[in-house]
Amino acid sequence: MSHDIPGTRLFDGDQAQKGVGGISGRSSQRGEVRMARIIGGIGTTHVPSIGKAIAEKKQNDPYWKPFFSGFDYVHRWLARERPDAVVVFYNDHGNFFRDKLPTFAVGAASKYRNEDGGWGIPVSRAAAGDPALSWHLINALVADEFDITMCQDMLVDHAVTIPLALMWPGGGWPLRIVPVEINTVQHPLPSLARCLELGRSIGRAIASYPEDIKVLIVGIGGLSHQLDGARAGFVNKEFDQLCLDQLASEPDELIRYSIPQFVELAGAQGVEFLNWMPMRGALTGKVTQLHRNYHIPISNTAAATVVFESGRSPRCAPRSGVAARKERPDERSEPSLA
Ligand code: DHB
Ligand code: FE
Repeated sequence: MSHDIPGTRLFDGDQAQKGVGGISGRSSQRGEVRMARIIGGIGTTHVPSIGKAIAEKKQNDPYWKPFFSGFDYVHRWLARERPDAVVVFYNDHGNFFRDKLPTFAVGAASKYRNEDGGWGIPVSRAAAGDPALSWHLINALVADEFDITMCQDMLVDHAVTIPLALMWPGGGWPLRIVPVEINTVQHPLPSLARCLELGRSIGRAIASYPEDIKVLIVGIGGLSHQLDGARAGFVNKEFDQLCLDQLASEPDELIRYSIPQFVELAGAQGVEFLNWMPMRGALTGKVTQLHRNYHIPISNTAAATVVFESGRSPRCAPRSGVAARKERPDERSEPSLA
């Protein structure tokens, strides 16, 4: 598998803090302001032992290969699409603490340090933030009546750093992040419908962001798993496949599940799928599933990796002048789904 993406720009939190390497707005020669554009969405997992496997270079070991090889397509797609910023929907596992746990929290920092209690995985470099994009999203969410917590100081755990390391394995992250935390760990949790709407609100906000940038949307977690209790080790392949199919083609169908039903079907931690709902909700127009990999188990978890291409509205035609190519060899390519 490839570990480097040639020609990418690497940002780190320290550069962001000093304002180096910033993404500035651009306007076309005719003077009109180009809006931001969502290129697509990626859903994947954050199991902490992946961080150890990366540190120990075990990507090709028989246990790990079926999972890591699911990223070969992701690396090629990202190298071609080159997003400038990524909105990451994830669930925090301990940095917020249970006594003050926001249902939805949006990062507005210029830098996100990694802290992770107890998993024994290497501490990651800080990720660069994009405060201007964050505040645009926060304003839009509040205008849409989402009572979010806004965080000018925010630590991120394995649910953010593992997926970044999987998507950009070269050691640096060539874009800025906006982390959006969703509570999937302490009941009551938000509904699937609310999480889908959260993503739709963010999708509309990005489409109205007057900067000529390409934005990737990522949803992190699951799929089915349960870490403790009588059903520890529980996974449900059939239900996972149904969730992935419906997420692609008819995400509104998924809102029929209550949280207790979802826990029953996907396991106590399978509710991390809540993070995938806004990823899909943010995508617009004809959404195409470009790639899907599904593997059981990674540690206790059924791990999926999916790439969706977002539809393009006419005013947001590809700026390179080259229509996006779809790669075919190792992925399940499907017709447009929604
Ligand atoms: C595992 C899965 C998780 O979602 C997590 O946060 C920690 C551990 C696991 O499968 O080991
Ligand atoms: Fe988790």
